[in-house]
Amino acid sequence: MKRIFILKSSEGRTAPDFSLKSLSAWRMDLIARCIIASFATPIGPRRDVILHIVLEGPPNPPVTVSIYGEKMEKMPLSEIEAAEIIYNALLGRANREVYIERKSFERTLLENYNHEIFYLHEFGEDIKNVKISGTSVFVLGDHKGIDEEGERILEKIGAKKVSLGRIPYLSSHCIIIVNHELDNRWEDGT
Ligand SMILES: C[S@@+](CC[C@H](N)C(=O)[O-])C[C@H]1O[C@@H](n2cnc3c(N)ncnc32)[C@H](O)[C@@H]1O
Repeated sequence: MKRIFILKSSEGRTAPDFSLKSLSAWRMDLIARCIIASFATPIGPRRDVILHIVLEGPPNPPVTVSIYGEKMEKMPLSEIEAAEIIYNALLGRANREVYIERKSFERTLLENYNHEIFYLHEFGEDIKNVKISGTSVFVLGDHKGIDEEGERILEKIGAKKVSLGRIPYLSSHCIIIVNHELDNRWEDGT
């Protein structure tokens, strides 16, 4: 079952001027972990995931970097390699599995409007009780969560709040939990 994640990164740098050796600045480390969580398996990149990362940090927001698992040739094996995907996209280096656009959180959501959209939130409905039929979109925030404006947009488009439990988890861990939940529901891998 295909799934789409949208990570709203409030600080993610929008120019290729961040250090690959010090990823905690602009929380590029969080983004790198989300890339690994989305695609990593021991046998290569997952084909059933699309990850949209909405970068809202300086100097030139918004920028959305989209990564398509079905086109990925090689799994990034470290946080540095994962961050390099963003770095190279911002540099404009061509890559068949990565697209970069000047696109806001709202536009990214609207472009996925043909799918059911779930907003990952501790106080939503327990995911175990939520019917998920077909490719769905899971929206999550960074270390700051989703701001009021982002929540207003999610409400406007009718996103349903879905919870993984009352404990707040790291963004990357939420992606792993959702991947696991969906894998369990569709064990045949369709
Ligand atoms: C590190 S958490 C954000 C914590 C932040 N301090 C806040 O108050 O929102 C990052 C994101 O993961 C998702 N998340 C974290 N824990 C969750 C849970 N138990 N259920 C559903 N989503 C969760 C939310 O989308 C959240 O914005």
